[in-house]
Amino acid sequence: MKGIVLAGGSGTRLAPLTLAISKQLMPVYDKPMIYYPISTLLISGIRDILIITTPKDAQLFKDLLGDGGRLGCNFEYAVQEKPNGIAEAFLIGRNFIGNDKVALILGDNLFYGSGLSALLQKNNDPNGGVVFGYHVNNPNRYGVVDFDANGKVVSIEEKPLEPKTNYAVPGIYFYDNSVVEIAELIRPSKRGELEITDINKVYLEKEALHVSILDKGIAWLDTGTFSSLMQASQFVQVIEERQGLKIGSIEEAAYTMGYISKEQLHKIAKPLLKSGYGEYLMKLN
Ligand code: TTP
Repeated sequence: MKGIVLAGGSGTRLAPLTLAISKQLMPVYDKPMIYYPISTLLISGIRDILIITTPKDAQLFKDLLGDGGRLGCNFEYAVQEKPNGIAEAFLIGRNFIGNDKVALILGDNLFYGSGLSALLQKNNDPNGGVVFGYHVNNPNRYGVVDFDANGKVVSIEEKPLEPKTNYAVPGIYFYDNSVVEIAELIRPSKRGELEITDINKVYLEKEALHVSILDKGIAWLDTGTFSSLMQASQFVQVIEERQGLKIGSIEEAAYTMGYISKEQLHKIAKPLLKSGYGEYLMKLN
């Protein structure tokens, strides 16, 4: 399965922070934001990854992440000229996806918790589409999913005034290859965007949309506002200092998944020793 990280957008809710630099390059405590979604794909068993950015920021992402070779991965890059919507990722990524299945994760979504990697790996060969469901306090700010006892989706609604459930759909989606055709069929919404919810609705009509519940042991944070960005940093700091374990380390994920050897990990760690990050990698068993 291939993966796409969508890391374009305009970041207007973070202005002036985002006037000169992409939101996804901002720090979330001790690493750039995009490390978190990339590490989520890596622990899902996905290491062939397309990173979509704005034209302006593309070089910075390449400087940060390179071709992925040092992590035993393949990273490719593409640009989204304008924030035309999340579903445009499948049109931009059409050639990259080829005949494969694909996971899409938004560049500003952070997932962490017990059982996450097993749950993601369970879903990485879907027939149809898989969205995730996460119980939130304020579902009307999100896509909201209603489902039956077998995890088959009954309805999915974007920012409903009267949500049918408390289950929001976070920014990670797994699809079979027909997602490319579906993305070609959908049209921009009233707000002028190609909506991921419209893709999911096509799968729903075909009775091929499933939901996988992220239970309460898993944290899903997004980082799109000053407050949520600060909270995410604090969350990462609290957990990391308490446990002595890192969240969202792409190097650790690559090592744990067996994409790189201990020797390769140590080589990556050496230039990072002074910040403590390298020391952490050196100590991994
Ligand atoms: P949003 O937070 O919806 O939008 P944004 O990042 O442009 O920020 P703001 O609302 O402050 O203007 O985007 C969610 C994620 O999806 C984020 O990581 C950016 C990405 N994205 C794109 O890359 N292209 C798009 O067309 C859209 C809509 C989002």
